[in-house]
Amino acid sequence: MQLIHSPASPFVRKVRVTLAETDQTGDVDLVRVQTTALSTADEAAAANPLGKIPALVRPDGPAIYDSRVICRFLVARAGADLYPEERLWDVLTLEATADGILESAVSMVYEKRLRPADMVFGDWIEAQWGKVSGALDAVNDRWMSHLHGPLDMGQIAISCALGYLDFRHGDRDWRQGRDNLVAWYETFGARDSMVATAPSD
Ligand code: BEZ
Repeated sequence: MQLIHSPASPFVRKVRVTLAETDQTGDVDLVRVQTTALSTADEAAAANPLGKIPALVRPDGPAIYDSRVICRFLVARAGADLYPEERLWDVLTLEATADGILESAVSMVYEKRLRPADMVFGDWIEAQWGKVSGALDAVNDRWMSHLHGPLDMGQIAISCALGYLDFRHGDRDWRQGRDNLVAWYETFGARDSMVATAPSD
């Protein structure tokens, strides 16, 4: 299989952490692309009509895309238990919360990186951070017992989201006032799968 990827993408990181946690890293070749919302790499367009990464090219079926779809596919392929039936809706909700944090955090980066300087909309950027902040508060206040439970996809997704905030939004200090989440991430972020997939440009 081939993973169309960028080492900076937190959505790609979710997939790579899942590969590592399910012992499938060796089954995938990483194909690095430079792709943005304004300029789509040929490999990304060929694998995903939306031109987005990650996309997983499979020898025995059509390419699949969207990190949630790919992660679920990989977990099923490995016969792993990262979406346990008895906690399924919690796991999916936590993963959706992490992905929502990431969508807002990535859109803040794109707003500054891709838009002409005189068109950057500061209020919109702050509104996106408001969504990130509210979601982090909810995780810190209501999801800690889940985070401390057996490994699942919700934990992987939240950890990748926090890693991306450190990578691109270090000046925002997401740790302030969220001691529970900070303590959990110190341990989870030190897992081999997280260390091996640290983001880079
Ligand atoms: C980034 O450079 O922050 C980035 C790259 C690819 C996807 C999402 C974010």
